[in-house]
Amino acid sequence: MGEVSVNGSGPSGEVTDTKVLRRAFGTFATGVTVVTVGGSVAHGMTANSFTSVSLDPPLASVCVDQDAIMHTNLTAAGSFGVSILAADQEDVARHFANRWRPLGMAQFEQVSWEPGRLTGAPLIAGAVTHFECELWRSYGGGDHTIFLGKVVSLYRCSDDDVLVFINGRFRAAAVSNEVST
Ligand SMILES: Cc1cc2nc3c(=O)[nH]c(=O)nc-3n(C[C@H](O)[C@H](O)[C@H](O)COP(=O)(O)O)c2cc1C
Repeated sequence: MGEVSVNGSGPSGEVTDTKVLRRAFGTFATGVTVVTVGGSVAHGMTANSFTSVSLDPPLASVCVDQDAIMHTNLTAAGSFGVSILAADQEDVARHFANRWRPLGMAQFEQVSWEPGRLTGAPLIAGAVTHFECELWRSYGGGDHTIFLGKVVSLYRCSDDDVLVFINGRFRAAAVSNEVST
């Protein structure tokens, strides 16, 4: 607690300690997704940077490390799928974050999935929501690229509890259907 990582002060202060930065970013709780592309560049990657961006047009973004295989494959595919993982899918999240997993379609052999109807991107069975996106724009974001996708299909699969990532750990978040007033 109370770690100081800013050299100098004010707008020109520079954050230099990436471990401290990573830990600070990690205090922001997120859902967990698997971003996928299909066809000849089939690939999947666990991502918690998925964010809703716009309702009209319907846009969502994901930030991908420029060194990730997904960066090359998503750029080549021009479309992608997003599966928002359920609370019982931590093993799926760990699998698609494991850099030693097989490449190509072999990495999908140990999970159930179905191809997206519009993009062919593998969509993970048991996820709470599936999206298919066409790549709309991409923006440089330091060592990552911000891929903005136009949502072309969505399917709300279940009301199951969802997987959450916080402080470097997976947690389950109960989804209440009670309407708040
Ligand atoms: C919970 C979690 C969330 C992650 N989110 C992202 C992300 O949003 N963007 C990213 O580039 N990597 C993210 N990663 C790391 C990648 O999943 C991991 O580096 C993966 O092996 C990269 O795959 P690739 O190089 O085969 O495409 C995340 C990892 C975990 C465990």
